[in-house]
Amino acid sequence: MDGWPGPAKFLSMLDPFGRKITYLRVSVTDRCDFRCTYCMAEDMTFLPKAELLSLEELDRLCSAFVAKGVRKLRLTGGEPLVRRNVMGLVRSLSRHLQTGALDELTLTTNGSQLAKYAAELKDAGVRRINVSLDTLDAAKFRGVTRWGRLEQVLEGIEAALGAGLHVKINAVALRGINEDEIETLMRWAHGKGMDFTLIETMPLGEIDADRTAQYLPLSLVRARLAQSFTLDDSDYRTGGPARYVRVAETGGRLGFITPLTHNFCESCNRVRLTCTGKLYMCLGQDDAADLRTPLRASRDDALLSTAIDEAISRKPKGHDFVIDRRRQAPAVARHMSVTGG
Ligand code: 5AD
Ligand code: SF4
Repeated sequence: MDGWPGPAKFLSMLDPFGRKITYLRVSVTDRCDFRCTYCMAEDMTFLPKAELLSLEELDRLCSAFVAKGVRKLRLTGGEPLVRRNVMGLVRSLSRHLQTGALDELTLTTNGSQLAKYAAELKDAGVRRINVSLDTLDAAKFRGVTRWGRLEQVLEGIEAALGAGLHVKINAVALRGINEDEIETLMRWAHGKGMDFTLIETMPLGEIDADRTAQYLPLSLVRARLAQSFTLDDSDYRTGGPARYVRVAETGGRLGFITPLTHNFCESCNRVRLTCTGKLYMCLGQDDAADLRTPLRASRDDALLSTAIDEAISRKPKGHDFVIDRRRQAPAVARHMSVTGG
């Protein structure tokens, strides 16, 4: 448990398994300026713009969750920083930091637009961001992201550090692609004072590549790293699914997100909102609740609040991820860019 109950006005959301929902991840757009091979097909069809919630509607939805006990908001995508005027949303949501209703407002980005937005993010009260970066080799980077330019992302990361943001680097562990570079990436990140987290590929959405070929279990990566580094288990948690170790030789933190080799659902405190107002109670299940209809049905939030409670009461115990070798089918049809990472 995490302490005493909060003030009565914040009625916290409890799911059927007694997990307290305190973390909302919001995909503000399904679009992205990259086409990472494990995430998207090259010729993705995106949602028609008319389907999107306005930034005002996203703000109202997020604020309803904050009123119901969410303490941490993460903006994701797609790439959140390619949504037009996303900084308007960041600025307006930051009022909840000022009132103390929210502990943290953060985002996950591919870094391509950070040179432009880093200072403004810091100014709006964002303290930590996650940047996805799988390789430091420009040619490999182009290969993984199809459309991305490494140099632009590195400039973005420097801008973020320069602005005083805490940066965590997230890398998806990819067999035969960045497998031999993980130590280099970790040393580089730790050398700049950034945490470094590895993620296993999850079977989400149809992609052009073969997932079984890409899948690299982190238990293996960890065992390899342990041959050259001292990995001390750490209690450090950020409210997300990563488990951390402290690396004695670099002094940095190394995180592991292992949805496949280790079940991370027991302590799940998260739900995910899409840019069309669907609430997914689990990254690895298809069930979703439509919040756009109750949002638009009335000006006050009573209907919305009821719809949120009803959705949380359906939160499943966990995901059923399996990378299916026989059928080559994803466990879940929608892409990560729909529900956010
Ligand atoms: N499996 C694991 N991670 C993924 N990401 C995108 N698609 C997948 C997938 N299928 C990661 C990105 C980014 C975060 C938002 O999700 O690399 O770090
Ligand atoms: Fe874009 Fe992130 Fe998906 Fe890459 S992983 S295509 S950067 S949303």
